[in-house]
Amino acid sequence: MKGLILSGGMGTRLRPITYTNAKQLIPVANKPILFYGIEAIVAAGITDIGIIVGDTKDEIMKACGDGSRFGASFTFIEQSAPLGLAHAVLTAEEFLGEDRFIMYLGDNLIVEGVASFVEQFKRDAPNAQILLEHVKNPSQFGVAELQDGRVVKLVEKPKQPKSDLALVGVYLFDKHIFEAARNIKPSFRNELEITDAIQYLIDKGYTVRPHTITGWWKDTGNVEDLLEANRLVLDSLESKVDGHVDATSQLVGKVVLTAGCEVRNSVVRGPAIIGRNTKIIDSYIGSFTSIHHDTKIIGSEIEHSVVLANCLLENIGFRVEDSLIGRNVRISKSKAKPKALRFVLGDNSEVGLI
Ligand code: G1P
Repeated sequence: MKGLILSGGMGTRLRPITYTNAKQLIPVANKPILFYGIEAIVAAGITDIGIIVGDTKDEIMKACGDGSRFGASFTFIEQSAPLGLAHAVLTAEEFLGEDRFIMYLGDNLIVEGVASFVEQFKRDAPNAQILLEHVKNPSQFGVAELQDGRVVKLVEKPKQPKSDLALVGVYLFDKHIFEAARNIKPSFRNELEITDAIQYLIDKGYTVRPHTITGWWKDTGNVEDLLEANRLVLDSLESKVDGHVDATSQLVGKVVLTAGCEVRNSVVRGPAIIGRNTKIIDSYIGSFTSIHHDTKIIGSEIEHSVVLANCLLENIGFRVEDSLIGRNVRISKSKAKPKALRFVLGDNSEVGLI
């Protein structure tokens, strides 16, 4: 079997971060989201992996390398434009050939991995296998309608969903998906939807096996989901203190201090992770917080947040919560007169004042 990871897309719901970062490379517990998918596929014994890339191609290729560090071999496949998931499958046809494959959307995170679904697919050999999960907001996903355990209808982003079963962004296919992708028309959002391609398989009498999962799954397309994914992954980490903690600091609960980081006169309450060369000075880092590398938090309090690399948070004066802070951001209290708030914010930034 082969793997196909989709890592194109614009990440519009994660702007402004995604103006300068591929959404799949935003770190969750200090590791790019995309790497969780790669590791899950490799753990299922699949090492020949195609990665679909778009506008953020250079960044994705640089971060992933040739695959050797994951024990895999990567083939990067450029999609000319973000014309949909079924279009991406067609773009990868030459790479996939006659092989069966797992398709994994690069911004999805599934805690239980994919090994058992791959085993099931290999054993039972349906034409396609889809993963479903009960969700509260089905109209934001592809939605499946089941009858007696069989999939009868799939609709992409239905206004009036017929069930609460969302399509998880992991699919298993055999070569018939190419025939399906060639025979569907673009959707309301002008994309060739994989959901419609699977519906084609159902209509033509091919076997489409549903599998409902119960462990957590996250499509990290927006800030809230990203923070939740960060929370869930942090919760599953084990404490590991490789960084330096001075005698006046306190680590509480599960805390990961990466080599080269420093905690001085501060409290870090886990689950939390602090990246390499980051300095936490006279500060409080609260639960469910990931601070990436080369950042400084000085005289500040932050909780339930993700801070990317090379930032400075200094003497903020209020606790920062539920925040996603991009690279190279500086937030500090200024002594300059007149006393005022001074912003330099990118397009689509959001600031919540007290
Ligand atoms: C895509 C699929 C949708 C699926 C979702 C899972 O949505 O089209 O059917 O439920 O991924 O993450 P998109 O992320 O393109 O909105």
